[in-house]
Amino acid sequence: MNLNLEVLYQAVHDLSFAVYVGTLVYSEFVLEPAASAVAPAQGAVVRRRAGERHMLINWSALLLLLITGVLRLGYMNLLAFPGTFFLTTRVASSAYGRTIFTMFGLWCVLAALGLLMTFALRPVLIGKIDPTLTSSERERRQQRMVSAARMMTIVMRADLAIAVVIAVLGVSLGSGGLI
Ligand code: HEM
Repeated sequence: MNLNLEVLYQAVHDLSFAVYVGTLVYSEFVLEPAASAVAPAQGAVVRRRAGERHMLINWSALLLLLITGVLRLGYMNLLAFPGTFFLTTRVASSAYGRTIFTMFGLWCVLAALGLLMTFALRPVLIGKIDPTLTSSERERRQQRMVSAARMMTIVMRADLAIAVVIAVLGVSLGSGGLI
């Protein structure tokens, strides 16, 4: 039974990682070039539709990574409340513990970037431009959309880079941690 749980936590952790990084890679290298190759209005529709699903899938994967990561630590008896933050004091002062803390900190950065995209950038991108606005207001609105789109691209690339760093740290845990 215990062995099955361990395998289950690892399988879900690894699948979530594959989905999280896979969707970002697909977006950057497949979807975005395709959306840029068609008329801007059509590209905007494709990005909007794809963005809705991307957001749902990536939030689910990110939460599953945290949950299964913590469950794996619990399974290995490394969690402690009170301990050093959430790890046993012995492990917290080892390379393994420092690597876990770094992964957790970077996970928080991914969550913060996710909040920025979901609640600040996406609403600007999916908003419609009211035709009754004056031309200068319409232009301002279009400018905001263009800046939000640029910002979204930068944030998604940063997201991908951070996720890859966390994955390298995760793999290093198998040989005692990297930091
Ligand atoms: C705070 C959240 C996280 C915690 C607590 C956590 C915890 C863990 C643990 C305990 C392991 C197993 C290490 C061992 O075998 O000794 C692991 C492995 C791994 N983690 Fe995470 N992790 C977290 C987030 C992430 C994220 C966000 C990613 C990638 C985007 C990730 C990718 C990996 C990978 C690739 C491995 C190595 C393969 C494996 O053993 O499954 N982890 N993680």
